[in-house]
Amino acid sequence: MIGKNLESNIFDYIYKKLSLERYNHTIYVYNFAKKLAMHYSENIYNVQIAALLHDCAKDMSLKESKRYILDKNIKIKYFDFLSLYAPQVLHSYIAADIAKNKFKITNIEILNAIKNHTVGRVNMSNCEKIIFVADSLSPDRKFKIRFISKKKLLSNLDEAFKLVLQNKINYVVSKFQVLHPDIIDIWNYYNK
Ligand SMILES: [Fe+2]
Ligand SMILES: [Fe+2]
Repeated sequence: MIGKNLESNIFDYIYKKLSLERYNHTIYVYNFAKKLAMHYSENIYNVQIAALLHDCAKDMSLKESKRYILDKNIKIKYFDFLSLYAPQVLHSYIAADIAKNKFKITNIEILNAIKNHTVGRVNMSNCEKIIFVADSLSPDRKFKIRFISKKKLLSNLDEAFKLVLQNKINYVVSKFQVLHPDIIDIWNYYNK
């Protein structure tokens, strides 16, 4: 399944699986990520597919998510810790599995962009950064998005990414929530 066929199948799937609010968020990320991909001369198709699927598992309950991960034997670093203290990140691993096994996507850039859209990782590709940034700047976010100017967003993807990462970490800390154990390494990687 490739091209428009794949895209329309994914549209059908997420329309069925997601709440209207989440579906609208996904469409926003899809359009925004496409603009960034065009602007930064990245592969538009990869970015669009990743955007469409990035939150496809987010409306699963925690119980369903844990069941899915155990049934499919998905290996997640810090799984027990994350299940307990940061269960909101689990959907990205499940979504990457759905992309790979349900939609037969093998492109590693797409799979990584889905898998790493919540926490990030060291050495991210531009496709991953675009999804990370577009997802975080969606207007339905609880945290304020005014920390980044349009000029900055469109002049330097790496700087934009770092600002978004900083804002995410600040948000988690401000709410006295638990940080992902790898976040210091990720932060240091991009700031040393
Ligand atoms: Fe997400
Ligand atoms: Fe999202």
